[in-house]
Amino acid sequence: MNSFALTGIGELSTQSETGVLHDAALVVEAGRVAWVGSSRDAPAADTAYDVGGRAVIPGFVDSHSHLVFAGDRAQEFAARMTGTAYSAGGIRTTVAATRAASDEQLAANLARLVTEMQRQGTTTVEVKSGYGLTVRDEARSLALAQQVTEETTFLGAHVVAPEYADDPAGYVDLVTGPMLEACAPHAKWIDAFCERGAFDADQARAVLLAGEATGLRGRLHANQLGPGPGVQLACELGLVAVDHCTHLDDADVDALVGSGTLATLLPGVEFSTRSPYPDARRLLDAGVRVAIATDCNPGSCYTSSMPLCVALAVREMGMSPAEALAAATSGGARALGRSEVGHLGVGARADLAVLDAPTYLHLAYRPGVPLVREVFAGGRQVA
Ligand code: NIG
Ligand code: FE
Repeated sequence: MNSFALTGIGELSTQSETGVLHDAALVVEAGRVAWVGSSRDAPAADTAYDVGGRAVIPGFVDSHSHLVFAGDRAQEFAARMTGTAYSAGGIRTTVAATRAASDEQLAANLARLVTEMQRQGTTTVEVKSGYGLTVRDEARSLALAQQVTEETTFLGAHVVAPEYADDPAGYVDLVTGPMLEACAPHAKWIDAFCERGAFDADQARAVLLAGEATGLRGRLHANQLGPGPGVQLACELGLVAVDHCTHLDDADVDALVGSGTLATLLPGVEFSTRSPYPDARRLLDAGVRVAIATDCNPGSCYTSSMPLCVALAVREMGMSPAEALAAATSGGARALGRSEVGHLGVGARADLAVLDAPTYLHLAYRPGVPLVREVFAGGRQVA
């Protein structure tokens, strides 16, 4: 079996019980980490690559994105920056553009964004539907997403489709009936946007339970734009993750602590909607597990950059650089129920990024600088 050694690693953040190593090496066999340790103890390998003292981190696990869409909403962003508030209704602009696009156009945009993510160190990405909102358009969105990732999420309950503006209950019936049936074969997860202007707790519960009955696992968008019932609903249902968590009261935090549901924070959204950031410090101090993801989408946050999200989490959300790196790697993996990504312990998939920096601290210390120099996925160089 061919083996491959990465040597001369100035700082190796394994996100495993091995911790952070200096002057380290890592050996890959069959796409997996076969050995990690000090450079001087490294076993022989068929080929070796010396990274010249640079830092190595696990590939980022971006556990929340919406990459199947057409068009953009740059004008909406510009209006927000001069005082217009973000609202869920903007989603319908992208729905119209997505429905009008061909499969080829959607696939090309999706591939462009996945490549953009990979160049910034992301090696696992979750991709949601949610800009089709018809049976055909949701199913084709997921079929396209399935071409680029195994982490696909059915989000028919993003907003009520325009055709059902006067019949939201009818739309929930569509989502939990024929749309779910057409989408389930292409999805691993089911999600709903539980927020004013989207779906209330009863509607979101109906959607998640219908999905679970067909074998999908639930996740939820909640408490993004204001306080609401979503976080407690996610905890009640025992979901693996609830995402946004910007507006939380004490009962929400207690529910998270008691349930073990992980909170995924999406600081790019607060940046791009000029909103107050979620209080990661409060959650971490209470013992809540936290992940960071981009939420890359054309409306509330059009960044594909996990390094930017790490920097924002440190600067704006009270996380230490170590906590932010963990949330962006092993935290994301936990949010997706994955044990073989998000870390570089022995047995992990050899997904990693070589930074043009001596330490991962530079991710937050040098915001906006393209520090990801090389990216390996399953031991193969992909960027
Ligand atoms: O996660 N919350 C719902 N969906 C996206 C926003 C989508 C949009 O504005 O187009 C989000 O923020
Ligand atoms: Fe989202």
